[in-house]
Amino acid sequence: MQILTRVTVTSDRLRGIALPGLWAAMLLVSPVQAADMAAAEQQAQTLCAACHGPQGISSNPLWPNLAGQQEAYLAKSIKDYQSGARNDPSMSPIAQMLSEQDIANLAAYFSAK
Ligand code: HEC
Repeated sequence: MQILTRVTVTSDRLRGIALPGLWAAMLLVSPVQAADMAAAEQQAQTLCAACHGPQGISSNPLWPNLAGQQEAYLAKSIKDYQSGARNDPSMSPIAQMLSEQDIANLAAYFSAK
């Protein structure tokens, strides 16, 4: 009985220390722009799938595959269409519609495909 009590006290005390520490750690590691995969899925299917395919694999030889591409490269490419560093009559207007967070989400989404 005494042992049980001691175990309970110890685990309560541990929980008191561990939980706030865990929350703090989670807040610290979650980057400001954590990718929102649900939002990306929604935008990918409504804005991108027509050309790049529902899975990021394009059916048209002039539309690139996005699936499995490097995340940083995808984000940079979309920003290049926004800035005009890259220009394409199909892709540039789409890029203009995307926020910085949208780009981060979509880049993470397609690179994980
Ligand atoms: C109307 C067709 C169309 C739609 C819709 C479209 N794209 Fe594109 N996208 C293209 C074409 C065409 C290119 C290649 C243009 C070029 O040669 O620079 C391209 C290029 C890209 C590239 C560069 C790929 C590479 O390998 O360099 C990325 C990234 C990209 N699109 C992402 C997206 C995302 C994300 C969406 C949805 C928000 C989207 N595109 C919607 C047609 C489209």
